[in-house]
Amino acid sequence: MNYDLATTDLTYADLIARMRSRELLPLWEQVRRLNTDHPQPKAVPWLWRGEDIRPLAEAAGRLVTIDRGGDRRVLVLANPGLDGMPFTSSTLWGAIQYLGPRETAPAHRHTAAALRFVLEGSGVFTTVNGDRVDMAAGDLILTPGWDWHDHTNTSDGSMAWFDGLDLPAVYNLDAVFFERFAESMQPLTGSDLSEVTHAEAGVRPTTEEVPLKRQVRYRWERTDRALDALLRESGQCSATIEYIDTRTGGSVLPTIACEAQRLLPGYRTPTRRHAGSRICVVYEGSGIAVIGGKRFDWERGDVFVAPSWAAIDLESHTPSSLFWMTDRPLLQALGLYRQHQAEQHQVIEATFEPT
Ligand SMILES: [Fe+2]
Repeated sequence: MNYDLATTDLTYADLIARMRSRELLPLWEQVRRLNTDHPQPKAVPWLWRGEDIRPLAEAAGRLVTIDRGGDRRVLVLANPGLDGMPFTSSTLWGAIQYLGPRETAPAHRHTAAALRFVLEGSGVFTTVNGDRVDMAAGDLILTPGWDWHDHTNTSDGSMAWFDGLDLPAVYNLDAVFFERFAESMQPLTGSDLSEVTHAEAGVRPTTEEVPLKRQVRYRWERTDRALDALLRESGQCSATIEYIDTRTGGSVLPTIACEAQRLLPGYRTPTRRHAGSRICVVYEGSGIAVIGGKRFDWERGDVFVAPSWAAIDLESHTPSSLFWMTDRPLLQALGLYRQHQAEQHQVIEATFEPT
């Protein structure tokens, strides 16, 4: 269609049509949709029940073999607000990985950074760049971006753990790279090597022959002890610690921060909002989360997500331990992080029912 742009007969519709024909859009028609008063995430608050996941993971263990075509037997916690994408929020990926007896999930590496939080079981090790790292219940294991990693189950029992990645963020930044190792397993260069330089809290080596490696295993007994000590000392009903990169004091991964929280019954945490999303893995106990005015009942093995800027608070029924992953470091690096604490608790308007 031809328009004489200089003529006064040009209508508004003509203008828009001509713009669209040149792949131009009028911002004035979209500005309110883009410049919202606060984040408007497509992801919705959601909860996945451990009692639903576990039998499905075991069935997948029988029906889906791990081979070079599949690599990983993973049940992704797919947020129903994200149009079928296998993402838990716009930036974070949460999943349950299941490894059967004597199985190996082959070695590979990818630019997305990953962590494992072990829900139960033992007898599995993850090899991170040749370092054999044993995995026990409650441990946090890091496989940073572009580090080789494979998982091997040496036991006669199965094991399941929570996988957390920044894959949605990396995917949306068009920065995904992936590579398979030539062999199924990496050759081992040692065992728990990263703990050689992180054997004790509060010290670091200056012996140059032993390079300061990144700590990749955070044992549960230390987390447990730290939370107990904090609760005892503070006299409060809630204590939270952040896992840190012991080389820098910063977050464990460039894009992901991890925290452990212990809650005692009879206390409701303040209602807060955070820019960026967060995933919670319930390691012990039971209680409720209120997210965006909706009540979510949680217990051991459940996982729930709070999208960006959703109001959230918690209350436990029994002494509870929660593992959190958030994208805070990513937002902070971009100057986008903010949080807000409400003066009063949010009102509970509905109760979550999974579809
Ligand atoms: Fe991986």
